Amino acid sequence: MVTKFIRFLPLIIASLVSFSSSFTPSDNYLLNCGSPSNTSIYSRLFLTDSTKPGSDFLSADRSISLKNQVPSPNSSTLYHTARVFTRSSGYRFNIKKNGTHLVRFHFSPFVSQGFDLTTANFSVLVNGNLILGGLHLNNTDTVLREYILKIDRTAVEIVFTPGNESGFGFVNAIELFSAPRDFIVDEGVKLLSADGSKVYKNLSSRVLETVTRINVGGPKVTPFNDTLWRTWIPDDDYLVLKSAARRVNTTHPPNYQTGGASRDIAPDSVYMTAQEMNRENPNFNARFNITWNFPVGSDCARYLVRLHFCDIVSRGLNLLYFNVYINGYLACEDLDLSTVYHALASPVYFDVIVDSGDSTVVQVSVGPSILSSTSAMNAILNGAEIMKILGHENSESSTKEKNIWIIVGLVVGFVGLCLILLALLLVMKCWKKKPKPRPAESVGWTPLRVNGGSSHSRMSEGTAYVSPGPNGYLAMRIPFADLQFATNNFDKSLIIGSGGFGMVYKGVLRDNTKVAVKRGVPGSRQGLPEFQTEITVLSKIRHRHLVSLVGYCEEQSEMILVYEYMEKGPLKKHLYSSGFPPLSWKQRLEICIGSARGLHYLHTGSAQGIIHRDIKSTNILLDENYVAKVADFGLSRSGPCLNETHVSTGVKGSFGYLDPEYFRRQQLTDKSDVYSFGVVLFEVLCARPAVDPLLAREQVNLAEWAMQWQKKGMLEQIIDPHLAGQIKPSSLKKFVETAEKCLADYGVDRPTMGDVLWNLEYALQLQETAQQREPSEGSSVDGPNSPTFGIVPQIPSSNIRADGERGNHNSDISTTDVFSQLMTNDGR
Ligand SMILES: *[C@@H]1O[C@H](CO)[C@@H](O)[C@H](O)[C@H]1NC(C)=O
Ligand SMILES: *[C@@H]1O[C@H](CO)[C@@H](O)[C@H](O)[C@H]1NC(C)=O
Ligand SMILES: *[C@@H]1O[C@H](CO)[C@@H](O)[C@H](O)[C@H]1NC(C)=O
Ligand SMILES: *[C@@H]1O[C@H](CO)[C@@H](O)[C@H](O)[C@H]1NC(C)=O
Ligand SMILES: *[C@@H]1O[C@H](CO)[C@@H](O)[C@H](O)[C@H]1NC(C)=O
Ligand SMILES: *[C@@H]1O[C@H](CO)[C@@H](O)[C@H](O)[C@H]1NC(C)=O
Ligand SMILES: *[C@@H]1O[C@H](CO)[C@@H](O)[C@H](O)[C@H]1NC(C)=O
Ligand SMILES: *[C@@H]1O[C@H](CO)[C@@H](O)[C@H](O)[C@H]1NC(C)=O
Ligand SMILES: *[C@@H]1O[C@H](CO)[C@@H](O)[C@H](O)[C@H]1NC(C)=O
Ligand SMILES: *[C@@H]1O[C@H](CO)[C@@H](O)[C@H](O)[C@H]1NC(C)=O
Repeated sequence: MVTKFIRFLPLIIASLVSFSSSFTPSDNYLLNCGSPSNTSIYSRLFLTDSTKPGSDFLSADRSISLKNQVPSPNSSTLYHTARVFTRSSGYRFNIKKNGTHLVRFHFSPFVSQGFDLTTANFSVLVNGNLILGGLHLNNTDTVLREYILKIDRTAVEIVFTPGNESGFGFVNAIELFSAPRDFIVDEGVKLLSADGSKVYKNLSSRVLETVTRINVGGPKVTPFNDTLWRTWIPDDDYLVLKSAARRVNTTHPPNYQTGGASRDIAPDSVYMTAQEMNRENPNFNARFNITWNFPVGSDCARYLVRLHFCDIVSRGLNLLYFNVYINGYLACEDLDLSTVYHALASPVYFDVIVDSGDSTVVQVSVGPSILSSTSAMNAILNGAEIMKILGHENSESSTKEKNIWIIVGLVVGFVGLCLILLALLLVMKCWKKKPKPRPAESVGWTPLRVNGGSSHSRMSEGTAYVSPGPNGYLAMRIPFADLQFATNNFDKSLIIGSGGFGMVYKGVLRDNTKVAVKRGVPGSRQGLPEFQTEITVLSKIRHRHLVSLVGYCEEQSEMILVYEYMEKGPLKKHLYSSGFPPLSWKQRLEICIGSARGLHYLHTGSAQGIIHRDIKSTNILLDENYVAKVADFGLSRSGPCLNETHVSTGVKGSFGYLDPEYFRRQQLTDKSDVYSFGVVLFEVLCARPAVDPLLAREQVNLAEWAMQWQKKGMLEQIIDPHLAGQIKPSSLKKFVETAEKCLADYGVDRPTMGDVLWNLEYALQLQETAQQREPSEGSSVDGPNSPTFGIVPQIPSSNIRADGERGNHNSDISTTDVFSQLMTNDGR
């Protein structure tokens, strides 16, 4: 009892600390300009800027401090004084930490000592960059200007330059402080434009000017209640049709998750309030948008739009599906907020960049998606920020998004195939020279089999050909009759999986090769894009650790894909709750290494690189020798927000594996696969599902749970008990280190699959080194069918290992989800 409590104590403490923590910037300069004394506002100390020893921020001082003799009683003391610059001059601050900083200028004009501050006309330069030109404040309203900019020098120089010789500039208060890490990320933000979406890179090197910051559906948030001392204002004035929206709020604090939004991104109040569709309004059809017009300048500028979401309206997971439009462009389709964390009320945000054109507003609309059921039709928005990107787009760093890869693939695919064929022929020739006995048949290598007209062809004579089919497919066609034969005319008893696409049958071709036959619902063209994608992708790539496409059939309105049969089924089944004998640590390492190899090849093997997008333990299949192969690449490539043309089928099945950054950036990268792979690594180590809704809340998500224990240095507590005493500490350390890096919040911090592969091989080597001293090396591994386990590289190497022995397909295992992809459609 006591030990149990002690074991959980660090977690309890951690949660208490994280609840009360607030952001402490490394650089934090707050100035009450023109004031002879310090002022405390919202428990922040604004220092006097008067030139006294120890507080000397003023540089090249040609300034006058000014005091408002008749200050408005309710105005902040910050605004009772000002510093006036009659010639170019300003402040200098030493910077402790390079990176993104926030700078705020407070202006509150008044008349005093012969200066009428409302006549001031001046510019502000930060480190020589003009960020505020020709500012002229002609009434006594207080104005706050906020800029977000990167500082990569040891000092910041802020200079106020009067507009003309007899003019002057002024300022009442200045804030300059470090932004939280990754407040603005560089890896690329989705840029919406008329000619499709692009990637906008290097955003953090631009100066951003905050235009609007809105707490949608909620009250005004004052700096006191915001960790970055921001002000968030209500949205009512921006709603195009007020009656379209209804305010909602919750009393439960948001369920913050790693990689999602944090309190530094937006305060609780933003995520605890929202506007939803007001469907009680009888004037409305069921489907409509809620639209906001946020005013911006009319200067054809580019804007960063950051939208905040937190599903506080749904009563269950996967009920709310909606679309987000910005300036009429579809920014995100079929958004399901519960996908990212498999949880409700988990705050998330994403960034999109738009051009305002000649419009004077940025228009944001949310409306129900076609996926939402009539009863749960809704759309929400919790917060919005609009920031203007200052400066010229001289170094236009956008590049065309990757999702044109299919077309490119089709074009270059044929050329590529010819080259691959050539390469394969050469490789095969080399292999044949090896003394090592090889099976006559090499299941995965369709083009060879076909091209060589070899006697081992498992197709009926004359039916196979290599040239692209009418659709440009490059894989092999199989006559429908052959597949009827193979599956005993699609015998129900041979079904090993089912789903939205159709059924998966176990089949035996005429040459006794076992195959998995995935048959689309006859006559239905649903899933045609996925079908074509799978054929295109799979015919371009062949790898020992990728499940091979044996062929396809597209006749009599049939859509059928034929894969090599994977005897041992999905990895998941061998990890937990299936009754299979537990895998040894070495076997698990081998499997992880194999799948890492397959994935590494997928990412780097072709010019564009292919992102799997649905890595999980059910998509890693094992052959009869426990050789791991990655499956189902191709069907799930388009994400919920990435590709506007069709609906993703894979998201639903991937809870717990989804890269949180993918949502935030609205961009898919190979680092999203690395994240998912990290989850698989922990799954392998801990032998529990990535998401287990039956567990206590803090345990539901494996990635989160494992990282918590890892941070406490107590991960041993939650590893699979079957592995007890098997793992060498050095091997475990390397493995966990690798998995941990894969789960880094930001893609930039994650290793490549190549690095992962190298590290896993190293972990295996660390495990092996001690064992090799014993004569019975390898004897712990399942006996008869493990020839591949003998081939262990002695030094980490990313060479592709020689193909292993392929035994007879003899065991009979009825996996119901060999192709789990198909099943994930069920609920829709
Ligand atoms: C203002 O605060 C700073 C830092 O706490 C202190 O060094 C300085 O003496 C204070 N100045 C005045 C005028 O109170
Ligand atoms: C000061 O506050 C009072 C009451 O809250 C309000 O009527 C008045 O307009 C405010 N004055 C200014 C200058 O904001
Ligand atoms: C103040 O400036 C606004 C625009 O910034 C302008 O429309 C208005 O006429 C100006 N008022 C005076 C008194 O100059
Ligand atoms: C910030 O970056 C600049 C240029 O890269 C470098 O010269 C300077 O030393 C850095 N300052 C700090 C505090 O790291
Ligand atoms: C401010 O000064 C600039 C020149 O520096 C001038 O072009 C602009 O018209 C001035 N604005 C006002 C409102 O006087
Ligand atoms: C300079 O600006 C001031 C205040 O904006 C104005 O009164 C004055 O006429 C301007 N002088 C010239 C030469 O433009
Ligand atoms: C990002 O922009 C800055 C400033 O424009 C430039 O110096 C830097 O080289 C750019 N970096 C990349 C990776 O494009
Ligand atoms: C901060 O938020 C709390 C709860 O929402 C509210 O009661 C309080 O008035 C707020 N404080 C300020 C200074 O806005
Ligand atoms: C939450 O909603 C209730 C009922 O609609 C309302 O009375 C309350 O003011 C709202 N709270 C906030 C913080 O918006
Ligand atoms: C919502 O707005 C978008 C963009 O303006 C538009 O294309 C779409 O048709 C609208 N949906 C509905 C239901 O009005």
